[in-house]
This record gives sequence, C-alpha cells and structure tokens, in this order.
Amino acid sequence: MTQKTNSDLMKFDQQHIWHPYTSMTKPLPCYHVDSADGVYLTLNDGTQLIDGMSSWWASIHGYNVPSLNQAMQAQASKMSHVMFGGITHEPAINLCKKLVDITPDGLECVFLSDSGSVSVEVSMKMAIQYWHHQQPSKKKFITIRNGYHGDTFGAMSVCDPDNGMHELFTGFLAPQFFIDAPSIKFNEQWQQSAMDDLEQTLEDNHQQIAALMLEPIVQGAGGMKFYHPEFLRQAKLLCERYDVLLIADEIATGFGRTGKLFACEHAEITPDIMCLGKGITGGYMTLAATLTTRHVAETISNGPSGVLMHGPTFMGNPLACAVANASIDLLMATDWQTRVQHIEQQLQHGLLSLADHEQVTDARVLGSIGVIETKQSIDLAKAQVLFVELGVWIRPFGKLLYIMPPYIISDAELATLCNVIKQVLSADIWYQ
Ligand SMILES: Cc1ncc(COP(=O)(O)O)c(C=O)c1O
Repeated sequence: MTQKTNSDLMKFDQQHIWHPYTSMTKPLPCYHVDSADGVYLTLNDGTQLIDGMSSWWASIHGYNVPSLNQAMQAQASKMSHVMFGGITHEPAINLCKKLVDITPDGLECVFLSDSGSVSVEVSMKMAIQYWHHQQPSKKKFITIRNGYHGDTFGAMSVCDPDNGMHELFTGFLAPQFFIDAPSIKFNEQWQQSAMDDLEQTLEDNHQQIAALMLEPIVQGAGGMKFYHPEFLRQAKLLCERYDVLLIADEIATGFGRTGKLFACEHAEITPDIMCLGKGITGGYMTLAATLTTRHVAETISNGPSGVLMHGPTFMGNPLACAVANASIDLLMATDWQTRVQHIEQQLQHGLLSLADHEQVTDARVLGSIGVIETKQSIDLAKAQVLFVELGVWIRPFGKLLYIMPPYIISDAELATLCNVIKQVLSADIWYQ
C-alpha cells in the first residue's frame, strides 16, 4: 500500500468512524495495524509493538495462533452461521459441554450471545424472570461501586454511578442499589466489618432485589482493583441468607487471567449465574455465554412465560463456537497456571518497586494483571505516542497504567513492557 492511500484511509477513518469512547470532531490519534502475530502488533509502516493489552483481556494466546486459525478455516468451509432457533450444531454443543465442565460445579445451563454486555443483559433477565412468579417485587439489582459491566443499558445501570455513565443517561437508567467497593485488598488481613454495608443494604431492601451483580476479585475498567476473596465468599452467604441471586461477571477475569481458571475459584464459590466473554474465543471473535444452575433455569422455565426471553440473531454462531472450542482446548492442553504464575512473579519483580516512584500511588499485581496507579491523570494522546515510540502497545486510562499481556509473552518481552512503564512515569505524560 502506498503512503498516499494509507493517508486517505486514515482521513476517512477520522472523518467517518467512531472508535471506542471518542469524539467525531476531535478524534484521538489512531494507529493503523496491518497484522498481528504472537505478542506483536505490526503497524502498516512495519513498526512492531509488543502487546501489553491482549486486545482488552481477550487475546490470551496471542495472535495468529495456528490451531485457532485452523479451527476457523475448517468451520468456515462447513458453515459460518446458521440461526439457533430450532437448529443446533456441534460447535455450540461442544462448547457448552466444555463450559459446563470447566466452570464451577453446579453451573449447567448455558445461554450463548454475542458480546459481554449482552451476556450481562441476559444474566439480568434471568434474575428478573427467576423471581417474576415467586416474588414479583424483586426487580432491582445490588452491586458494588467501581464496577464495570458493559455499555448496554442494563449493564450500565450496574456500572459505578460516578465513573460510569449514569449522569449522562439519568432518567433512562434503571436505579439500582450501590454499596461501597470492598475495602480490603486481595492480600490484606480480612475484617468481617467489610461486609457491613452489603449486609445492611440487603437487610433493608432484599424484597426488591433480584440479584447481586459483581466482578469477582478483580474490578476491571472501573478501577483495576483486586479485593479479598473472603468478601466474595461472604457475599455468596449473604445472598443465600437474603434470597438474592449472585451474578458473577467473569467476562474479564475468566480463562486464567487471575491465576485461577475463574476468579470465583479464589473464594471456592459457585455463583447462581456467571457471565463469560472476551477470552472465550482467545480474542478471535465476539462471543459470550451466560451460565446458570439447573435450579434457576428450571424456575424460569416453569414460570408463566415458560421461556427465557432472549434470542439474538447470531446466537451460537458456529464460527465463534469453533474457535472458542479450539481456544479452550489449547488453554487446557498447556500448563496455563504455571505460565500465569510465572508472569505474575515477573510483574511483581518489574512493577511493584515502582510504588516508590514520586508519580505513583499504588502498584499491584494479580495473576497476569499488573497495575500502576498514578497521582495525576495520564494524557492518553501523549502517553500513546510515547509507548509506540518505545515499541509497546499499552493504553492507560485516567490514573491507571496497566498491562495484561497474552500468556505466551516471553520473559524478555515482559521485561520490556515493565521497563517502558518505568520509563514513561518519568516523562511528560500528565494531563494538564
Ligand atoms: C467485567 C466486564 N463485564 C462486561 C464487559 C462488557 O463486555 P463487551 O465489551 O464484550 O460488551 C466488560 C468489557 O470490558 C468487562 O470488563
């Protein structure tokens, strides 16, 4: 491609295409990626960047993975898509079988959908339909501050009320109950008083509450915080005591990212409903799943409507299911836990000492997630240019500089990511 045609493409992009959370009149700079292989993104001028983001948690095996490519090609030549209403197929059956096998015991019924946000909507519908004929007053959700569950309206209503989009959509978003984010960090000493807010809010309002929605252990886009597993264990007990379902949004944490296959395993709990997405296809295609127990599924199915009220056009897309099967097979065939532990140790070594840096308020690591929280807000445009100059793809937001690389990253590549983070902390990347 000539330089001229590339600049034409970029001009069209700027003038006509919205990117995530961007303006059409003042778009942020955008990089033209031509291909991706292993942990490298290759820009159209040939620049190679080490990917620290796994395309927002999704590309757990890296890019251009032979067995995933092969699975998609084989499926494409058989059947790329067919409606799921009245029709079923092997890729979906095999995938649901695997999901039932690997998720916590008791999650047996699977609803496939197109994206993480939609799987959250489905989980909320499941909870409301579960109570519909038993206790119709239970139509609200309780959730913890700093949460992020997606950009559709139901999901937005349970995102953090301050750093989410509540203000912008006031009057349209369903009002929900919010409790303080868990105060005790992953490795801190547990204190039972951390449950007071949840217990009191449930005590006062449980007749109105269908479910507690939370991200287990790691709160992602709402603040990249890691909380104590005991909070999750106790939350499950409180949900049982107050007749409230527990929805675990494992869209970011699922498939090994936190060091356990699913973050719920840190607390050894089975939620009533679990949402999966992102890494489910190894980042190849958009696909999500909402799993629930037989009890919840049967209660919904024995209700007045007799059915779960959802059915997207691309439900159970065979291409996406085929690549998800290949991704899960690949994950389970590798010693992913040792890999993630190794990445965790390297992140600890490379990032935790940065807590002493004058620009840093906190440095934390869990599994293959490394987070640096800064004193000042980071100017994304400035930081992005610098990261690309230094040969890495890291995309900070607010006061958070974080990485969650593909599990296949080498020691040298991960060391480069950590060193670059150290370097940019001393550069002029701050929002004025
Ligand atoms: C925990 C969590 N839930 C839900 C979502 C929404 O998923 P999607 O972007 O696929 O709609 C995200 C996306 O970042 C997420 O991190």
